[in-house]
Amino acid sequence: MTGNVRPDTMGRITTPELAEAFIEEQIKELRAQIGDKKVLLALSGGVDSSVVAALLIKAVGKQLVCVHVNHGLLRKGEPEQVVQVFRDEMDANLIYVDAVDRFLDKLAGVSEPEQKRKIIGAEFIRVFEEEARKLEGIDFLAQGTIYPDILESGPVKAHHNVGGLPEDLQFELVEPVKLLFKDEVRVIGKALGLPDGMVYRQPFPGPGLGVRCLGAITRDRLEALRESDAILREEFAKNGLEGKVWQYFTVVPDFKTTGVKNDVRAYEWPCIIRAVNTVDAMTATVENVPFELLQHITERITHEVPGINRVLYDMTPKPTGTIEWE
Ligand code: XMP
Repeated sequence: MTGNVRPDTMGRITTPELAEAFIEEQIKELRAQIGDKKVLLALSGGVDSSVVAALLIKAVGKQLVCVHVNHGLLRKGEPEQVVQVFRDEMDANLIYVDAVDRFLDKLAGVSEPEQKRKIIGAEFIRVFEEEARKLEGIDFLAQGTIYPDILESGPVKAHHNVGGLPEDLQFELVEPVKLLFKDEVRVIGKALGLPDGMVYRQPFPGPGLGVRCLGAITRDRLEALRESDAILREEFAKNGLEGKVWQYFTVVPDFKTTGVKNDVRAYEWPCIIRAVNTVDAMTATVENVPFELLQHITERITHEVPGINRVLYDMTPKPTGTIEWE
């Protein structure tokens, strides 16, 4: 599959049969492209990179080297789960890189969203550069670029952009799902035999919690974000909304509001809940979350998460709001 424009003749991949045909074609193309060379993949554990990993494992097996970078902006429990699923269960070549301090130090004091994305993207490139140099003999870089990334994102926003690698370390790109919409990637993942928990997992942006910890990221506010997000996910799972709602998360802005906790004035952050449905991320509607559940989640977040004294629900569809807040 070449080019960055989806041909008019390309039908939507909606059935297992169409997925099988796509997979067969991709395996042939990947083998032809890669030969007996090695491929490096940034494996975040999200749907896109997981599907790319599974395609490549099918096509070239152990020639694939997955690198999971913990940049400190992942959701609670996520790095551990990636290692467990891919290294232990799928027997993939997986390198785990703990780069938490490195990313957070670089991001300290930076508040402009696109600047944050740039820093995260650039640091990713450096990490890959280091891993690639350690590994030797890597010729290809696989990426989970999907079509909305190409349509909507400028070069700065796209986390898949690898521009900026030094001259002596240029990889050829492998982007087997770049013309697919998210729903199609899920159909492919299912056909590849990936577990449901991975295939129907909600999408998570490359910059991760970094664009949900609004403004300049601080470790304490990032932790409040991670904990509130974990509570939201736990409650959605318990109440049958996991796998039903397309994307849901919390956002913690960089301002405080006055509240009362244990009869004492509490000047703390608010936390915003966002829960949206979409097919291809180009437009989105707001999930009609039961009011009682919102009240329960509010109660839990305000009582269990240090630093948060208020919870709000974002009622804005896309347009006019984007899905993310930054
Ligand atoms: P927006 O906020 O543009 O988001 O409505 C649409 C979808 O894209 C995800 N998103 C990103 N994904 N890098 C990514 O990999 C990014 O910088 C980025 N920004 C937004 C967002 O989570 C949603 O699923």
